Amino acid sequence: MTCANDHKNRGPGRGQSPVSDELWASILMEALPYIRAYQGATVVIKYGGHAMVEPSLQKALAQDVALLKFVGINPVVVHGGGPQINDLLARLNLESKFVAGHRYTDEQTLEVVRMVLGGHIGKDIAGRLTLAGAKALALTGQDGFLIKAEKKKVRPTESAEPVDIGLVGEPVEVDNYLLKHLIGGGIIPVISPVGVDSSGQSYNINADTAAAAVAVALKAARLILLTDVPGVLDGEQKLVTRLTEKDIRALETKGAISGGMLPKLSSCLMALAGGCRGAAIIDGRVHHAVLLELLTDRGYGTEVAPD
Ligand SMILES: Nc1ncnc2c1ncn2[C@@H]1O[C@H](COP(=O)(O)OP(=O)(O)OP(=O)(O)O)[C@@H](O)[C@H]1O
Ligand SMILES: [Mg+2]
Repeated sequence: MTCANDHKNRGPGRGQSPVSDELWASILMEALPYIRAYQGATVVIKYGGHAMVEPSLQKALAQDVALLKFVGINPVVVHGGGPQINDLLARLNLESKFVAGHRYTDEQTLEVVRMVLGGHIGKDIAGRLTLAGAKALALTGQDGFLIKAEKKKVRPTESAEPVDIGLVGEPVEVDNYLLKHLIGGGIIPVISPVGVDSSGQSYNINADTAAAAVAVALKAARLILLTDVPGVLDGEQKLVTRLTEKDIRALETKGAISGGMLPKLSSCLMALAGGCRGAAIIDGRVHHAVLLELLTDRGYGTEVAPD
């Protein structure tokens, strides 16, 4: 175990850092109002499959989440795994198919989804959190029937008839009993987005949708969705820093929102309607994006706000 005072022997020393002492202190102090505002609050962080491929980013994210816990904020991680699922499906010669941002999920695809998310990615994230000094436990929405789900139907376009996309679930209830016990015990839950219905059938759930359902059930203060783009881009590929429901509908009508961004934006709206104070879509390819988003004055990515 490293002694808390060890750092005093390792820094460059007064006057030798490229950052002045005043600036250094002011950077740290910038976090104070945010640490205070989020003290004891739950923040749900959804970590997208595309934003989690680079090892140094994986480590930075784990450090951010651990730091939040150490300063008295309760992070809960929900993860995706699109690219990793695609990769294993390809190795098994199975096709990846998407409808309106959701993966078409037959029995075999579900088997791969459950293996990759619950068996591999969740455990890796919890392992990295442990390496960063935090206590973490990976579980899927199937454990303890944490995420009750029912079969989801989606409309490829707003006016189209709903289509069957296989074993894709919609969360109907998140049992927060287990999560509250983990959080209360100082443990960071890492949740794989797999749900289960009352007959025991499991479902693949879009990770953004699962994160929003968890955020609502835990009365989280904030939902943060990390992804592989700077945030929501308008029709001209420019970052939109703030969006209300009305703006989202306008962008959808223009055809500027597609694929994985569709469930992301609905999830932000669902979180806000369910009582979260705020929701943001940020660039998970930036090191320490979560810290910058939550604990500094700089607003990163796109904030989804009430009308
Ligand atoms: N208006 C838009 N602005 C930004 N990205 C958009 C927009 N419309 C569609 N997208 C797409 O949404 C993608 C992000 O969603 P995607 O589901 O692919 O990733 P993820 O949710 O971060 O990861 P995972 O699905 O594995 O959890 C972007 O890479 C981009 O291609
Ligand atoms: Mg996605």
